[in-house]
Amino acid sequence: MPREIAENTNIIVGLDIGTTKVCVVIAQVRSDNSINVIGTGRAESKGIRKGVVVNIDLTVEAIRKAVNEAELMAGVTVRDVFVSIGGSHIKGTNSRGVIAIKNREVREEDVVRVIESAKAVDIPLDRQILHVLPQEYIVDGQDSIKKPMGMSGVRLEVEVHIVTASRSSVENLVKSCNRAGLNISGIVLSQLATSHSVLSSDEKDLGVAVIDIGGGTTDMAIFVEGSIWHTCNIPFGGINITNDITIALRTPQKDAENIKIKHGSAYTCDELSSEIVEVPGVGGRDPRRLSKYVLSQIIGPRANEIFSAVNKEIQNAGFEDLIASGIVITGGACKMEGSQKAASKVFGTEVRIGSPTNFGGLVDVVSDLEYATAVGLVLYAWSENSSFYAENTSKREEPSRPGQSVTGKLKKLFGEFF
Ligand SMILES: Nc1ncnc2c1ncn2[C@@H]1O[C@H](COP(=O)(O)OP(=O)(O)OP(=O)(O)O)[C@@H](O)[C@H]1O
Ligand SMILES: [Mg+2]
Repeated sequence: MPREIAENTNIIVGLDIGTTKVCVVIAQVRSDNSINVIGTGRAESKGIRKGVVVNIDLTVEAIRKAVNEAELMAGVTVRDVFVSIGGSHIKGTNSRGVIAIKNREVREEDVVRVIESAKAVDIPLDRQILHVLPQEYIVDGQDSIKKPMGMSGVRLEVEVHIVTASRSSVENLVKSCNRAGLNISGIVLSQLATSHSVLSSDEKDLGVAVIDIGGGTTDMAIFVEGSIWHTCNIPFGGINITNDITIALRTPQKDAENIKIKHGSAYTCDELSSEIVEVPGVGGRDPRRLSKYVLSQIIGPRANEIFSAVNKEIQNAGFEDLIASGIVITGGACKMEGSQKAASKVFGTEVRIGSPTNFGGLVDVVSDLEYATAVGLVLYAWSENSSFYAENTSKREEPSRPGQSVTGKLKKLFGEFF
């Protein structure tokens, strides 16, 4: 098979390091400026707890396995990746920056300067900034400006959402990727990446909350008028549901996971009473039979707890009335039957399940909710650097020059991490 090096800059790779699985999506930017997924890989995570690397060796092993699988499928060698980050060490806050405009017309350097000034918040030494996401600009008191360039005024302000992370957690993530032989082109907040694959721009403009319920964590981001205003992380996910089944049915973890995936429902209704499930016993005990109704009564309270915690967060942050497009749920745990109904009941608003979209190629594989973050990483990288990829896609017939990796070229854009 011909092996193309991913240094050829029309290739974008998303690496999602989740609590239960590491997955990789290799995509190609086509000359018509669309995204084509050409390879995917997946490995069980062992060194991750609640979204954070706790064992580097095991994480490296999982990354290698997932990358190898994706490389084989795509026929390319991966070197540069965009990687996701999550976990309760991540904090999001809103901040404001102000500068005087010297030339009375806003230029690109003024925008850079005002965003720099918004970064001037007290950040402890053990934390680092991951993202500074502009929400709106204000020129001489006129607010709700998205593109201030060229406007006249003497005072430029910006509202931003700043995302910070624990330095050591970032370092362990970087170390794991580097030891697996990968360069990091960008580290992206999980739910920011996910929003690129499951939300439409109309939803973001109108106001929406995206909730990614994974194995160990539930990540949420709220968009209003196209920008992120609130992010949070709740340390519960599908693993907690499996654990509840293990305890309630006194069945081994592996069987509890199988029962959950095959027969679980997050919403209890009478029709489930007639459907019977066999539960293997522990320590040689006989298997037992129970109805899906009973199973849903074990799962339901945990699902409600997770949705209620997110709902409380939305209310406490004051965004309840600002998310006119409602709620979009995604992540592996939302593959559970009845998730949408259970969520609608708690949120009291419209809920839809968000599958990854906006790409071609291996659609069947990566439309799975578990791939929402990995696909989102590719789409994020593409949207943030569209002119970079467009330029390189048109030049892709040229051989790539040694030492000119994508990471090197993108370092300017994602400089904070290096
Ligand atoms: N059909 C299904 N029904 C119910 N739960 C499911 C189903 N398929 C997968 N899950 C659950 O989804 C979870 C994994 O989801 P996902 O792959 O999004 O998590 P992750 O990215 O590894 O973790 P995190 O984002 O929390 O770090 C597991 O707990 C798994 O049991
Ligand atoms: Mg995840």
